[in-house]
Amino acid sequence: MTDHDVYDLPDKATAPEAFKSRIQRFYGYWNRRVDGLPFGEVSLFMNWGYLPSGPDEARLLPRPDAVNASSVRLILELVGDTELTGRDVLDVGCGRGGTVHTLLGYFQPREVTGIDLTPENIAFCRRAVAAPRSRFLEGDAEQLPFPDQSFDVVTNVESSHCYPTIARFYAEVTRVLRPGGVFLYTDVFDRDEVTARRAEMSACGLDVLSDRDITPNVMLARAAEGASQLAGFGTAPAAETDDPTAQSDARVLDLVMARPGSDMQVAMTEGRLSYRILRARKRARLASRLRGPQRD
Ligand SMILES: C[S@@+](CC[C@H](N)C(=O)[O-])C[C@H]1O[C@@H](n2cnc3c(N)ncnc32)[C@H](O)[C@@H]1O
Repeated sequence: MTDHDVYDLPDKATAPEAFKSRIQRFYGYWNRRVDGLPFGEVSLFMNWGYLPSGPDEARLLPRPDAVNASSVRLILELVGDTELTGRDVLDVGCGRGGTVHTLLGYFQPREVTGIDLTPENIAFCRRAVAAPRSRFLEGDAEQLPFPDQSFDVVTNVESSHCYPTIARFYAEVTRVLRPGGVFLYTDVFDRDEVTARRAEMSACGLDVLSDRDITPNVMLARAAEGASQLAGFGTAPAAETDDPTAQSDARVLDLVMARPGSDMQVAMTEGRLSYRILRARKRARLASRLRGPQRD
């Protein structure tokens, strides 16, 4: 296998394990690509970001010196007014550590754990992002390597679309959350998918508190940054080359950057994809709800 087919992923429903290993390869490739650039060491995000269009929900704003401010803003919007002080937080699909870094820099959690399927992501996080009150582990969202009721908050940013069985991930989120714990979740969904996902969350014991369509905000970020981010890689569009490796590279970059005119950006423009922020709370068991808060 060479780099010319890194973009081609098998069907995740029929070949889940093969799909996961190709996801690792895809993001391993992406890491090598970013690490080779002058700004590689400060490139902590792989999401499409958020620009405000009002009404917004972030209680804090990205600092003026923030690198990838629109991605920081996405995390601040995701958190909204959720209390994180003194909480144990798990970030699933942590990528290159941008969410963990933001949560530690803007809030006062007790500890933030990042977990990701791709070894290169975790190696980068341990080298470039690790800080007191953080830890990074390799692992699968569908089989989280933590005991029951280990966390107060689970975050998940633009990663769940990679999971072959998302309901298994929701069940794992429920298992590792303490009763009353909060799931802060943002991703891009097929337009018709969100209702089913909400039902799956509910069936797992997660009560959806809010569901916000932020597609316009994500598109603003892509319009402002997509083309210039791509230019930083010096890659020609796939259509401009016959070389299969260069074509594959351009497709990978288009997917991660969603520059204007790319398949993903066009699908958002046409309403076929919807980018959401969902917040949910782990349902307390009936017995503990009846007992009341003073005896819990
Ligand atoms: C688009 S990136 C987003 C990364 C990060 N959350 C961010 O906002 O920058 C998707 C991430 O999900 C990770 N991922 C995909 N499938 C996974 C799985 N089954 N378990 C854990 N992580 C997974 C990938 O390795 C990749 O780092």
